[in-house]
Amino acid sequence: MKQARARARKTCLFETREAETMIGRLNHVAIAVKDLAAATAVYKNALGAVVTDPLPQPEHGVTVVFVTLPNTKIEFLEPLGANSPIAKFLEKNPDGGIHHVCYEVDDILAARDRLKEQGARVLGDGNPKIGAHGKPVLFLHPKDFCGTLTELEQV
Ligand code: CO
Repeated sequence: MKQARARARKTCLFETREAETMIGRLNHVAIAVKDLAAATAVYKNALGAVVTDPLPQPEHGVTVVFVTLPNTKIEFLEPLGANSPIAKFLEKNPDGGIHHVCYEVDDILAARDRLKEQGARVLGDGNPKIGAHGKPVLFLHPKDFCGTLTELEQV
């Protein structure tokens, strides 16, 4: 019992203090799919959404379709090239699935430093990269964020 409690405690890095407001708007929800055309048809034809043409992003290993909603965006990601970062995810989720959520922050370096100080894991080398929208982004480890890969984007 004691052990279970200790383990449960370990799963949350952040219980000792509350942060000042850091995240802003939900910038997008990214959904990984094997077939962009099929995904586009679902959102366009079944749900009546406004969708863009596919945009290959070789530097990120994905082709992207943006779905514009009144309050946020959905981004469909299809693997591009042999080493796509979403290939493994699609092996585990052959029907596709929510891959990550992206929140806006005012200052990505301040956000990163504050989270790292609390023990959160930042993926990659820990430095922001230019993301799909030409803005600096970082990814946070899903194990530290409720089982969800979490992207921060400086807007
Ligand atoms: Co994203």
